[in-house]
Amino acid sequence: MMKRHLFIVLALVLSVFISSCSNGDKSGKNYVIKDNMIVFPEPERVEGQKSVLQLAVDPIPVVRMGFIGLGMRGADAVNRISNIEGVEFKALCDLLPERVESVQNWVIKGKGLPECAEYSGEEGWKELCERDDIDLVYICTDWVNHVPMAVYAMQHGKHVAVEVPAATSVEECWQLVDVAEQTQRHCMMLENCCYDFFELTCLNMAQQGLFGEVIHAQGAYIHNLEPFWAYYQGNWRLDFNQKYAGDVYATHGLGPVCQVLDIHRGDKMNYLVSLSTPSINGLKIAEETMGSETFANGDMTSTLIKTNRGKTILIQHNVYTPRPYDRLYQLTGTEGFANKYPVEGFTLKEENIPSDIVPDHEDLNSHGFVPSHIKDSLMVAYKHPIAKDIEEKAKKVGGHGGMDFIMDYRLIYCLQNGLPLDQDVYDAAEWSCLGELTAASIANNGLPVKFPDFTRGDWNKVKGYKHAVK
Ligand SMILES: NC(=O)c1ccc[n+]([C@@H]2O[C@H](COP(=O)([O-])OP(=O)(O)OC[C@H]3O[C@@H](n4cnc5c(N)ncnc54)[C@H](O)[C@@H]3O)[C@@H](O)[C@H]2O)c1
Repeated sequence: MMKRHLFIVLALVLSVFISSCSNGDKSGKNYVIKDNMIVFPEPERVEGQKSVLQLAVDPIPVVRMGFIGLGMRGADAVNRISNIEGVEFKALCDLLPERVESVQNWVIKGKGLPECAEYSGEEGWKELCERDDIDLVYICTDWVNHVPMAVYAMQHGKHVAVEVPAATSVEECWQLVDVAEQTQRHCMMLENCCYDFFELTCLNMAQQGLFGEVIHAQGAYIHNLEPFWAYYQGNWRLDFNQKYAGDVYATHGLGPVCQVLDIHRGDKMNYLVSLSTPSINGLKIAEETMGSETFANGDMTSTLIKTNRGKTILIQHNVYTPRPYDRLYQLTGTEGFANKYPVEGFTLKEENIPSDIVPDHEDLNSHGFVPSHIKDSLMVAYKHPIAKDIEEKAKKVGGHGGMDFIMDYRLIYCLQNGLPLDQDVYDAAEWSCLGELTAASIANNGLPVKFPDFTRGDWNKVKGYKHAVK
């Protein structure tokens, strides 16, 4: 009798295991399928590790920095940041010594700054992280190096700023979260699109209720990279896309709309479904340049996300076909609408626009964009306070029209003043995990995928997205 019971229990356990691994999960991937939903692991918080939600550390009046990765993005970052007061450059690192030399000459010597220590080679970055005179490590390498470098830097007591996407898998996202919590260090992903002028203005308008309740948002990275593939060092980007399906570069589209929707500040992303086209142009370029016969990343990937409050988000990725550059950025609210590409515009209810901002309400109707002079007045009236302070300088220094400089400025300002950063490690994880989550949905005919809750239950503790100010 006992034996029979044991057999039944074992058979049940086995059948649950088999059903959770069936339906397409034959690739050894890191998820199970449960109740028609793909579920990735959500490991419990280890004892002694504590949340870094709203993390604030002691003010760092002079932020001492080290840079890893001095290619197209990293070299410009050093140059931009050299325009911020209260920063000291301590060390520069790249795989290739000539790139270190070039930034040392162009920016450091060019501006008469004290010379930086130089590191190069595969593991030079470790020595940079081990130095005891650096507060912030700024990482601009290829994607697969982001997490090992960020983790090592935090484990050596440094705060980290890391380019997008911060991580390439759900497991890597957890690693960033866990190490940030263990070390109580900042880990900010450098999502610059959150700082573009139109996005900041819309965020301010949304927070002041001009769109009513924002129920749907859209974002994208649509950028034909054909002219750029050859310039990524060692072909890292095409190489990555050749291997991985899914929206591998989702954060530019997702970041700004997550801020409007208060993700992990009152709402959270619950699940997504994703579909992708075949890879035609991607495969063609990989055949020509890498001799590759396969290409995992579909030319166009579309993803729909459902939030806990029932809102929806559409995110798209296409870096292969001829199209005008497009990050979509669109907000649909119960009282209004904002759209960035291809034309910036607002549709608003007249009763929501104060007459001291737009005295002539006759032009307004809810079937078209407000006329351009009204749009211009709104852009001035609702300019985000953080843009107001720094707009002129940002436009002069540049970096995608100034947004990159605002991002750097905010990062340094928050560190100097001991404030929580604009983007925390949970944002980095939530926005970066889209790569693997969408790949899993695509591999399973668009099956829903549950978002891991990287805050481990704390997503509703902070009420509303805010930029910290002193
Ligand atoms: N936020 C944005 O608007 C934006 C724009 C472009 C690129 N990026 C991101 O910036 C990062 C870099 O992109 P990029 O266009 O500059 O690529 P890139 O190929 O020009 O630069 C990458 C650099 O990393 C260096 N590197 C590689 N391995 C290294 C190692 N072990 N140690 C030190 N350095 C190493 C390479 O030598 C190269 O100089 C990527 O994450 C990319 O997604 C962001």
